[in-house]
Amino acid sequence: MARTPVIAGNWKMHKTVAEAVALAQAVKDGAAGAAHCQVVLAPPYTALYPVAGILRDSRVILAAQNVHWEPGGAFTGEISLPMLEAIGCRMVIIGHSERRQYFGETDATVNRRVRAVLDSDLQPIVCIGETLEEREAGRHYDVVTQQLDGGLDGLTRRSLLRIILAYEPVWAIGTGRTASPETAQEMHAFIRSRLSERFGEGAREVRILYGGSVKPANIAALMRQPDIDGALVGGACLEADSFLGIIHYNA
Ligand code: PGA
Repeated sequence: MARTPVIAGNWKMHKTVAEAVALAQAVKDGAAGAAHCQVVLAPPYTALYPVAGILRDSRVILAAQNVHWEPGGAFTGEISLPMLEAIGCRMVIIGHSERRQYFGETDATVNRRVRAVLDSDLQPIVCIGETLEEREAGRHYDVVTQQLDGGLDGLTRRSLLRIILAYEPVWAIGTGRTASPETAQEMHAFIRSRLSERFGEGAREVRILYGGSVKPANIAALMRQPDIDGALVGGACLEADSFLGIIHYNA
């Protein structure tokens, strides 16, 4: 089965509601003809509901940037899956390297979130990737293996099919230093083979996105790689023109 490409924009901690609505509208209009891929927008929490209104009846998918594993309770500052489901969120980013680096996210907490998401109607976009130090020490395959094994622990073959993975080398995020298409492909192929060792055939159907300084100028070469099935975009998704340039990589 062909893997439909995914182009996802992670807005991180950017955009007021007014700015978010304007950007979502521009992306929705510009992406209307993009039948070759799924387009995903992940605004900050305050903008999710208004952006949901803009995206209703469009092909663009709404995502959150994180979620708690409990359905509700005394967890000040957190947001639950039922809250996201109720406003029409269909995906959620889990384990972004900034969550791991600054907010204590570990493979164990990633795993709790992933399992909870798989019990809901949402789909997780699970982020993995090594730091520069780990790559320079030649440990990148070990680190990614550990993140995969820990983050996806206990998943069934069937639930694997609902997961989207994002390989984001930390040294490429927000640095302007993209992994070359060949370097990214090497890791994507490795990830797929690790998944097939653990989960069998289904690994061939899992979408694996690349993230880290993706721009209109480098997306086409990345997308030509056999195991790169899309992109998770940070900086270049904050302006409609550059994000649309990425979405229309095949134009
Ligand atoms: P970047 O961020 O495109 O700004 O490098 C990617 C990400 O963090 O998902």
